[in-house]
Amino acid sequence: MNTLRNKSILFLTTLLLSSLGASAQTTGGVSEQDLLLALIATMIVVALVSLLLVITIMVLVRQKKAALTPEAAAAAATTSGWSWLKEKLTDAVPVEKESSIDMGHNYDGIRELDNNLPPWWKYGFYASIVFAVLYFGYYQMFSDWSSEQEYVAAMQEHKEVRAAYLARQVDMVNEESVTLLSDAAGIAAGKTIFQANCVACHGADGGGNAIGPNLTDQYWIHGGSIKNVFTTIKYGVLEKGMTPWQDILKPGEMQQVASYILGELQGSSPAAPKAPQGDLYTPELEKEEAPDDSTSVALAVQ
Ligand code: HEC
Repeated sequence: MNTLRNKSILFLTTLLLSSLGASAQTTGGVSEQDLLLALIATMIVVALVSLLLVITIMVLVRQKKAALTPEAAAAAATTSGWSWLKEKLTDAVPVEKESSIDMGHNYDGIRELDNNLPPWWKYGFYASIVFAVLYFGYYQMFSDWSSEQEYVAAMQEHKEVRAAYLARQVDMVNEESVTLLSDAAGIAAGKTIFQANCVACHGADGGGNAIGPNLTDQYWIHGGSIKNVFTTIKYGVLEKGMTPWQDILKPGEMQQVASYILGELQGSSPAAPKAPQGDLYTPELEKEEAPDDSTSVALAVQ
């Protein structure tokens, strides 16, 4: 009977320990908050496991004692492991010996007993006193922590997260969502990218050379809308010698350089312009290609 109980307790402990290992693996959270939650959960599991270990050790020690002395063996035989454990945790006087702690106060048959406080409660209370002293000392006396500072820090952190999110949004542009930038900073950034990557084949002023076509005229081989130009830059035309830039430039950068080409290079007068290639691109043509624009459809019907 006892060995069976031993085995089941050991089995339960092993089970809990292995679940602890499993929960420890889930701490690879994304945000700090996730990590904190995982940490708290792990701490709770650790506390439960520790409690179980202590109980296991207590039970094992008791059984070891029972095996050594005949009196203890007799005592162990009369009390079940559970009631013994309850006794240890509550420190309550057994019902048979109640008279020893009777205070002599009897109210309509309800007697007052002078039981000790349950140890688990008492030590919890002491621990909370120690915690309160440490907590008060840390937060109110010795550190310069204030809830206002914490608020400011939290807002700062939020701002950074938001800025990072917005930066990611910029780099979410693709050939469907890309728009022509008109801000000076975006165009200037596009110019820098162009000078660093594109001049070898398109010329420093975009006029084209033996390899690449003129980017300043109204004629485009692959279309002259912002979406067309972005697409050409992104996927390239490998067989004609135009590099695909999608793995080299970020989407936001491809948008900037495309906007620089259409917003500044196009219409400028390069020193030695290469003869136009492709078709004359006019923005109206693009409207015709977009039938979901109800006004252009209406115009076409007239
Ligand atoms: C290795 C040479 C080379 C480099 C570097 C290069 N291009 Fe090109 N590019 C070409 C060639 C060649 C074509 C013509 C492709 C064709 O004929 O289909 C072209 C075409 C284009 C077109 C389409 C022109 C049209 O008429 O439709 C755009 C836009 C363009 N390049 C932009 C860029 C940008 C922006 C960069 C730098 C980030 C760049 N290119 C770098 C060789 C290059």
